[in-house]
Amino acid sequence: MKRRSRSAPLGLAPHEKLVRLAAASTDVISLAGGLPDPTLFPTKELGDALFRALSRSHDSPLQYGWPEGDEALRAYVAGELERRGGDVSPSDVIITSGAQQAIAIALSSIPRCRRVEVDPETYPGALDIFRGAGLHVNDRPFGAQALYVMPSVSNPLGQRMSDGRKREILAQALAERSFVIEDDANAETWFSGELVRPLVADQRDRVFHVGTFSKTLCPGLRIGWLVPPPSLARRALREKQRLDLQANGLAQALLVEYLKNGHFESHKRRARERYRKKARRLIDSVRRHLPKLRFVPPGGGFSLWIQSELELDDEELLKAAIAHGVSFDPGRLFRVSRGGLALRLCYSAIEERDIDEGVQRLARALERCLEPARRVARD
Ligand SMILES: Cc1ncc(COP(=O)(O)O)c(C=O)c1O
Repeated sequence: MKRRSRSAPLGLAPHEKLVRLAAASTDVISLAGGLPDPTLFPTKELGDALFRALSRSHDSPLQYGWPEGDEALRAYVAGELERRGGDVSPSDVIITSGAQQAIAIALSSIPRCRRVEVDPETYPGALDIFRGAGLHVNDRPFGAQALYVMPSVSNPLGQRMSDGRKREILAQALAERSFVIEDDANAETWFSGELVRPLVADQRDRVFHVGTFSKTLCPGLRIGWLVPPPSLARRALREKQRLDLQANGLAQALLVEYLKNGHFESHKRRARERYRKKARRLIDSVRRHLPKLRFVPPGGGFSLWIQSELELDDEELLKAAIAHGVSFDPGRLFRVSRGGLALRLCYSAIEERDIDEGVQRLARALERCLEPARRVARD
């Protein structure tokens, strides 16, 4: 399944143009994008839920709602966090337009925030927010007022943070009186289904907790949430109201109805199993066709992060890859510091039977890019 658009917006960077080009072509196998598997979307159940939501005779979901969001949805989020050890009540939760907006609200609620520390490989959408706000971003400690992390399942690595690192982060936030933005967007994609205790359970006062239904259900609804520290809750709510008054009321009501029917748990189990199988297939294929590239097998998420010592430009490789009929996400998107060649290969949305062919095409493109350097070395 591809994202298509007939007319690309103006002002795209070269790699963005390449990604759009690849997405628009039916001949290109996409290992890019990090989209959920569209065949998992529970269309029928969501349709039924929409019908029930619209049939509500009391509070119509087509009317304006409060900026903090639907009561039942806030109670659901608080209940899930409580199950994971958090002391969070429904009144602490703000329903947002996706996790993306939750990160943006968290950031603008932090007083005098000028610096953000991130992991060496991090989520590009968050980098967009930080850079767009004119902040200094670094992947090493540099006295930042905010620390953006993904402890439960990281994107692009699909790894879980160690308990030691979690303690370090909370200690740093307490010592420096800085704030942690805990992005839990991919938490429920962990293949075994085991959920870890979130940072917000250990430190409410310094942690903004961010979550979403985009990875488990579908991103089109654009529903996520934010649990701000109590001292900044009013600021965060005002920011939410300033941005868009409220998250989409119809999408919230539909979700509330969907969650009532009890299918969500089995849906998530099915999704995790699908992603685990596809990840396995991609890992086997990369080991077979790209044996020199290094990676740590992911435990969850939608992608495999590949690194190499090769001094090859990822944009050059992407051009060659598209010419060979495959696309990927260039590593530069995920980093603030330079490094050797890195790529993110996504297994989530691709059809399982295309994975091996996609990797073989990538291996041929890599060979083609390495040829000139080898020729120089020989001559
Ligand atoms: C780590 C992370 N955070 C946030 C988001 C944005 O999620 P949403 O669709 O809920 O805005 C994504 C989506 O790719 C993500 O991977």
